Amino acid sequence: MTNLHGKVAIVTGAGRGLGRSMAAGLVDAGASVTVAARTASELDAFVEEARAAGGQALACPTDITDEAAVERMVAATVETFGRVDVLVNNSGIVASTPLLDQSAAEWDRVLATNLRGTFLATRAAGRHMVAQGAGKVINIASNFAIQGVADHAAYSASKAAVIGFTRSMAVEWARSGVQVNAIAPGYFATPLNAEMRRDADVMAKVVRAIPARRMGEPEELKPWLLLLAGSASDFMTGEVIVIDGGQTVR
Ligand SMILES: NC(=O)c1ccc[n+]([C@@H]2O[C@H](COP(=O)([O-])OP(=O)(O)OC[C@H]3O[C@@H](n4cnc5c(N)ncnc54)[C@H](OP(=O)(O)O)[C@@H]3O)[C@@H](O)[C@H]2O)c1
Repeated sequence: MTNLHGKVAIVTGAGRGLGRSMAAGLVDAGASVTVAARTASELDAFVEEARAAGGQALACPTDITDEAAVERMVAATVETFGRVDVLVNNSGIVASTPLLDQSAAEWDRVLATNLRGTFLATRAAGRHMVAQGAGKVINIASNFAIQGVADHAAYSASKAAVIGFTRSMAVEWARSGVQVNAIAPGYFATPLNAEMRRDADVMAKVVRAIPARRMGEPEELKPWLLLLAGSASDFMTGEVIVIDGGQTVR
């Protein structure tokens, strides 16, 4: 079991879904965790739960596309917990729109959240990691970065770019002791796809496309996240771990 006592992590998009589950995994492993997203009430609920369980957490309402807000998120973390060791770039949105119907505003929103947000948070937290000569950046991509999926051009492009960003930063910071890796999940049941899961026909099609014949549970990401957050991955950087029940290797 990874021991992260004394370590400080930031998880973006931690109010619900995969981010919340991963933040809980980091708290359980002993890390002090800043949870960031736009909906303050969800962050406050997380912090209350973490503290009740004896953990340390800080709610930091943040729009990940806002440069000044992201700088404040990292500054508040360092002020409260003294350092930053792990950054999980998880906040993300999806748009399911045929390209001919896609507005430039929607395209920009998806790219700004999934890609610009990852850049802003990595730069802000990375300053501290590079200065201390150690750190872990974990980017949440998607198997849609690898597989062609109709009506998801903006999302797929943003996640493919996150993988390119991961590899580039892995090389750039390798000698600084900062590892930069990515997890590319397939379908996991979260509020992101709640609407899709309510449609039995669509769900049947989705599950048929997954060799494991089921969606993943957020809990199933935790061991991989902890591996990337802990010392087991000190010689591993620029990698993408795909966790999708075999969908992209068919
Ligand atoms: N679920 C899946 O099947 C799946 C598959 C592959 C990849 N992923 C990726 O995994 C990540 C998490 O997905 P999820 O399913 O857990 O999604 P989710 O349930 O919709 O949660 C997304 C989180 O991101 C936050 N967020 C969205 N826009 C933000 C912004 N501008 N600034 C700060 N936070 C923002 C949301 O909070 P607020 O709205 O309150 O800001 C929320 O906490 C995403 O990057 C997603 O692309 C998910």
